[in-house]
Amino acid sequence: MINDNRTIVALDFDGRRDAEALVTRIGDACDHYKIGLELLTAAGPGLVEDLVGRGNEVFLDLKLFEIPNSVAGAVRAAGALGASMVTVHAMGGTGIMAAAVEAAREFPRLRVLALTVVTSMTGSDLADIGIDATTDEQVLRLARLAADAGCDGVVASPREAGVLRDVLGPRPLIVTPGVTLPGGEAGEHAARAGTARAAFAAGASHVVVGRPVTRAADPVAALRRVREGAGG
Ligand code: C5P
Repeated sequence: MINDNRTIVALDFDGRRDAEALVTRIGDACDHYKIGLELLTAAGPGLVEDLVGRGNEVFLDLKLFEIPNSVAGAVRAAGALGASMVTVHAMGGTGIMAAAVEAAREFPRLRVLALTVVTSMTGSDLADIGIDATTDEQVLRLARLAADAGCDGVVASPREAGVLRDVLGPRPLIVTPGVTLPGGEAGEHAARAGTARAAFAAGASHVVVGRPVTRAADPVAALRRVREGAGG
């Protein structure tokens, strides 16, 4: 039905019970979930194994930024849990991205995604840390670096997906959070938000949606609205 495997629901909860309850309510409508540091830390890695064991794909959003040896170890641990996506910060440079890619080779289903400039950062934040570039320039620079390091794709806002698809070509994954419901409130993501339809049209391979679905009175209906007109 509405399960398109291109829409990933972010389980941003502070414990296993709420996450499991949401997954149960969603049922067959989605089998692709993102687990971030909050839920992983609160619920433990067993939740990842359980979701994978029940036939789901899990995007483990670890946002790794560490020495290459530690990044490689964390990627192997994610692979051993059965995760199919893991994130590493491109700002950490080629060394850590290449270490992540090398570590993921053991796990054929595991894809390494690079984060470029987190969407909360502005040009003045970049200047503060000594980077003399606009956020757009820095996103492109880091996306190219990620591709050269062998990453399978990038995480990008709906606003950036189109230009990244042009620059990266057809193969890399472009995973787009900050997705809103058609006609919905953009809220805190106003500057870089967009609908799933717009993100897919711009070249996103996957979209990530959290609160518009997880906090909805009817999460399955909200998921259907997210995918409205998005070919799912
Ligand atoms: O806003 P929402 O609840 O849909 O966010 C879902 C996920 O997308 C979050 O887990 C967050 O990591 C990611 N996100 C992001 N950048 C944004 C908005 C959300 O990385 N601008």
